[in-house]
Amino acid sequence: MDARTKTDHAAERIAHLRAEIERHDHLYYVLDQPAITDAEYDALMNDLKRLEAEHPDLVTPDSPTQRVGGKPAEGFKKAQHSRPMLSLDNVYSVEELADWDRRVRELAGGLPVKYVAELKLDGLSIALRYEPAAHGGSRLVAGITRGDGQTGEDVTTNARTIHSIPLSIAASKLKKAEMPVAFEVRGEVVMPAAAFQRLNEEREQQGLPAAVNPRNAAAGTLRTLEPSIVAQRRLDFYAYFLLVEGEYLAAGQQATLDALAALGFRVNPHRKLVATLEEMTEFINAAEAERDKLGYEIDGVVLKVDSHATQLRLGYTGRAPRWAIAYKFTARSGVTQMQGITVQVGRTGKLTPVAELAPVFIGGTTVSRATLHNADFIEKLGVKPGDWVKVERGGDVIPKVVEVIADKEHPRGKHPFHFPTKCPECGSEVVRAEGEVDYRCVNADCPAKLRESLLHFGGREVMNIEGLGEAVVQQLLDRGMVRGVADLYKLTVKQLAELERFAEKSATTLVEQIEGSKKAGLARVLMGLGIRFVGERTAELLAQEFGSIDALMEASAAELERVEEVGPRISQAILEFFAQPKNRALVEHLRKAGVDMTAEKKQRTSQLAGLTFVLTGTLPTMTRDQAKAKIEAAGGKTAGSVSKKTSYVVAGEEAGSKLDKARELKVPVIDEAGLLTLLQAGATTS
Ligand code: IVH
Repeated sequence: MDARTKTDHAAERIAHLRAEIERHDHLYYVLDQPAITDAEYDALMNDLKRLEAEHPDLVTPDSPTQRVGGKPAEGFKKAQHSRPMLSLDNVYSVEELADWDRRVRELAGGLPVKYVAELKLDGLSIALRYEPAAHGGSRLVAGITRGDGQTGEDVTTNARTIHSIPLSIAASKLKKAEMPVAFEVRGEVVMPAAAFQRLNEEREQQGLPAAVNPRNAAAGTLRTLEPSIVAQRRLDFYAYFLLVEGEYLAAGQQATLDALAALGFRVNPHRKLVATLEEMTEFINAAEAERDKLGYEIDGVVLKVDSHATQLRLGYTGRAPRWAIAYKFTARSGVTQMQGITVQVGRTGKLTPVAELAPVFIGGTTVSRATLHNADFIEKLGVKPGDWVKVERGGDVIPKVVEVIADKEHPRGKHPFHFPTKCPECGSEVVRAEGEVDYRCVNADCPAKLRESLLHFGGREVMNIEGLGEAVVQQLLDRGMVRGVADLYKLTVKQLAELERFAEKSATTLVEQIEGSKKAGLARVLMGLGIRFVGERTAELLAQEFGSIDALMEASAAELERVEEVGPRISQAILEFFAQPKNRALVEHLRKAGVDMTAEKKQRTSQLAGLTFVLTGTLPTMTRDQAKAKIEAAGGKTAGSVSKKTSYVVAGEEAGSKLDKARELKVPVIDEAGLLTLLQAGATTS
């Protein structure tokens, strides 16, 4: 085959793979109906990545490989909206809603009015522009945040990382939906509850303050300058408007949502055409009842006049359409007086300030305590005991103080709060390490640490020992029955039956639970040990990589860092942990007790097997050692000099003679992004 036909052939294959991947993305991310296994999907993606690495000139921004790994942005450019992105007026009660409905009907001049009821997703709105693509369909060319409604920020690269946003739309789909190739889609970017929880777990492990709510987290993520971080956060997008040449579709809102779904966008399934106030309240009540089960935050229901003609007739006020309204749920926040601040000591010795509140009813529960995160947060808020504060509670998140209320009705507290300089549990010194937000108790034997370690060890996500709650742990400690987590395995039914509110039956159940936890496996044991920065995901990855605690304890920093997501900070924490005789002894005690500390090792894929790389110059984000470790982890080899056998030269800034040599020998040259492309889509599969 000559070079030309070879390229044509590759182009064809690339187009085919892209279409297949887009189809499976739609099935998986939009319809939640995957048709192939992850491994099969990865295989398609790997094929595409390999072809694109071989034909860099065929890479286009709408390729599915470009969802991740775009270049970090230096800032966001401003972009003008095709027509203003307006806001909505709010109502807070059925009476107000009834008033609005009446006004709409009056203005509609007696024509019958129907509304589309949708969920009000608590995220941020974004406009996506699609333009003609070479394949005859449309491709995503811009993603713009709402901004001030007139101009927003161009966050296209980040928007591309969201899998429920189609990067390209086939001509056949456009035809079916009777859509032109150029159009704009508007909708809401949200951070799903699971992603939010994961984000905050990670932030906690990194000693960073928790994100306040999924909306802020989604907004912050979309404005992150590093697209690979955005990709990890798993944002989602729900479409609700479709504009052609700056105009809403004449077919009406219901038809618009159908068209969006037909084009491959994720449209929220909770939507309904309603006509009467009764139907509206029914939808609202159902939404409120489902609220906690949705997996993402909503803060109300939006009602939109369905008919486009009626929408035009009703028009706009300054900032919002008259044809739509937001019915807001009762606040999940409340205002109350903060009676004092107590400081809790966690398992790592971390001191967390907690606001003690006059009980306040928020979204269905009584809240009397809320987190104040850390000393910096207290200082930033300027909050003093006695202040009135606003407390927020989201889905299953711990209540938090978000604001100090200061007006005539809410006088300020008198005395400032001084963060303790001694541990409130044991009186030892507390210190704050350089660059960290948290203070920690220095006493290794602080009773609070032991208590919290035991509670953590028994926790549902860790060893899952049901019945090992606070009251039991406190009694075990007070009676000197356990002095560390390994002692749990020595407890007998007879001993436990002596505890308060324990009988033979409950004692037997607890012993069985403890016994059962021996089979929890390495990942959970690793979490249970409480190594700093080793949370659920890292523990899982380490367990899969090393397969046993012994292999892990023997590992060097470089070997640890071969594990995805493990960098120098985590590897250091692991090494320090196992360097302590006390911790090694704990492992031995657990082993003697019969705790399983093995895991099934994941087979490495040999994605880069048979390939030899030569690294030269300075790479933008990795050191050469890190790049080497990544290549080797994927089964590739690295060499010091370029020869005919070299598969790729990875060149960074100021690459010198090796690059010349590569050119001379016609060895393909790729940059860091090219290497990452080859490595992506799971360096390991099961
Ligand atoms: S319609 C001109 N529909 O709520 C109409 N907005 O409070 C404006 N939102 O800025 C948007 N879910 O960020 C609409 N189903 C939905 C929505 C929704 C959430 C947000 C959107 C908007 C804000 C207004």
